[in-house]
Amino acid sequence: MKLLVVCLGNICRSPMAEGALRARIAASTLAGRVQVDSAGTGGWHAGEPPDRRAIACARGHGVDIGEQRARQLSVGDFHAFDWILCADRANLRDVLRLAPPGRRDRVDLLLAWAGIETDGEVPDPYTGGPDDFQQVWRLVDSAAQAVVTRLGVR
Ligand code: 4NP
Repeated sequence: MKLLVVCLGNICRSPMAEGALRARIAASTLAGRVQVDSAGTGGWHAGEPPDRRAIACARGHGVDIGEQRARQLSVGDFHAFDWILCADRANLRDVLRLAPPGRRDRVDLLLAWAGIETDGEVPDPYTGGPDDFQQVWRLVDSAAQAVVTRLGVR
C-alpha cells in the first residue's frame, strides 16, 4: 500500500507526518509493506528540506526527517498512490480540485482516515512557535499509531 500525505508547503506538517508514519510502520509488522511519501499543494518550497523547526521537533521525538525534500503534488500522484491524506480542509479542497475522475474517493483528511478525529485538522504551524510544532507532532504521531493498528489487523 502506498500513502501520500499532503499539506500546503510540504515543509512542516506533511514531512512530520511522513516521518512519524515511516517510524511507526518500520517498528511494526507492516514494515516493508506500506510506503509513505509527502507533497504540497503549493510548489514554493520545492527542492528544500523541511523547515528547521519541523526537523528539530521530529529529532526531539527520535525521528530524522532532514533528508526529505519538498515537492508539489502532481496529477500522476493520484495514480501512483492508494490514498492521498490531507492535513486540513483547505488542502482537501485543493487536492480534490486536482483529482482525476474516479480518484476522488481515494482522498481524505489524515486524521479522519486514521480514525482518530472525524473532520479533524492538523493546524498549520508555519507562523507559530515551538508549541505549535509539538502539537503537530502529537497529532501526526497519534495518526501514525492509529494507521498502524488499523492496517495491521487487516
Ligand atoms: P506546511 O506549512 O503546509 O505544514 O508545510 C507551510 C509552509 C509554508 C507556507 C505555508 C505553510 N508558506 O506559505 O510558504
